[in-house]
Amino acid sequence: MARLSVLGISGGVSTPSRTTAVVNALVKAVAFRVPADTGLIEITEAAPSLFAGLSRSALGASGEAIIQRVEKADLLVVGTPVYRASYTGALKHLFDLVDYRALGGKTVLLGATGGSPYHGLVLEHQLRPLFGFFGAVTVPTGVYGSPDDFVGAELVGPSIRDRISRAAFEAVSLLNSSHADAAVSARVG
Ligand SMILES: Cc1cc2nc3c(=O)[nH]c(=O)nc-3n(C[C@H](O)[C@H](O)[C@H](O)COP(=O)(O)O)c2cc1C
Repeated sequence: MARLSVLGISGGVSTPSRTTAVVNALVKAVAFRVPADTGLIEITEAAPSLFAGLSRSALGASGEAIIQRVEKADLLVVGTPVYRASYTGALKHLFDLVDYRALGGKTVLLGATGGSPYHGLVLEHQLRPLFGFFGAVTVPTGVYGSPDDFVGAELVGPSIRDRISRAAFEAVSLLNSSHADAAVSARVG
């Protein structure tokens, strides 16, 4: 497979961020399995550029460059802390700026962290439908981290690491099959 661009996006608004730790671990696990150029957008750093405008046309050059990185990546790894039972508003603002046609068929790997295990379904009830809207292909296994999975903002514990590994494996399988489909389409015409 050709070298892929894998972009992590962390909707965490604190530093250090548990969510960024999950996103980084997922990006690393994918890059372990497939040749990849990796990157990370942290909302904490991107917010001044993204909130310079409430619509795409009102963004400056730095905000536009961030949105274009999102639209051009082969694989997005999107993580959010649970805020009020959903993704952070800042993360949603980023995706409100993305062209509604730009993520069709793109593979998206989902992660979240919360203050308790009880909001783990944020992956299924909030994040997955957002990417369903875009027509993206979400990886079946998402990764949710609750406080027991961390010491400070550092990931610990084998069960979340197993889940990260499984999610990365599934993401790479999906990417392989979509590249194989593209090759068949090119041959068949
Ligand atoms: C404003 C706010 C709202 C939150 N709402 C929830 C919530 O609804 N459910 C939950 O499980 N945790 C909630 N939390 C806890 C965070 O999701 C949790 O601490 C998360 O791991 C923080 O991630 P971060 O280190 O990336 O910022 C909330 C925290 C804040 C500051």
